[in-house]
Amino acid sequence: MTIEQDKISPIKTLAKAAAEHAYAPYSQFKVGAVLVTDTGEVIGGCNVENVSYGLSNCAERTAIFAAIAQGLNPKSIKQVVIYTPSEKVYSPCGACRQVLAEFLNPETPVISTCDNDFEQWTVASLLPQAFHFDINEYRNS
Ligand code: THU
Repeated sequence: MTIEQDKISPIKTLAKAAAEHAYAPYSQFKVGAVLVTDTGEVIGGCNVENVSYGLSNCAERTAIFAAIAQGLNPKSIKQVVIYTPSEKVYSPCGACRQVLAEFLNPETPVISTCDNDFEQWTVASLLPQAFHFDINEYRNS
């Protein structure tokens, strides 16, 4: 662990607050995610489900998309904190890992918290060998 539990707590509180906005009538699993920028700005997200289940969006992706929509430079994001309403820690799904890999610096810490525990990774460690594609490089090859 490189970040102490007490340092996470205030951001965990924000992630927990973000989870309250979740629309999760199908899973009942309300997740929150908070992105913290290098200037201390925070952007929240929650999962938003759909009756056509596959259209559901996780809290992590909602937060990233909100940050982009606000015009924020994603490279200014220095930390991701997730909250799940559970006794055990859950790690981000594969789709969210790919989206995190597209926008965030590989060394950005991703911390998942639950009611009594937390775990920390980096964006790169969550998705080794992530798919990266440079269209210009491809066209010129
Ligand atoms: N979910 C998230 O929002 N983030 C995660 O890291 C894992 C799963 C959501 C998706 C779905 O709405 C619900 O949790 C149950 O899978």
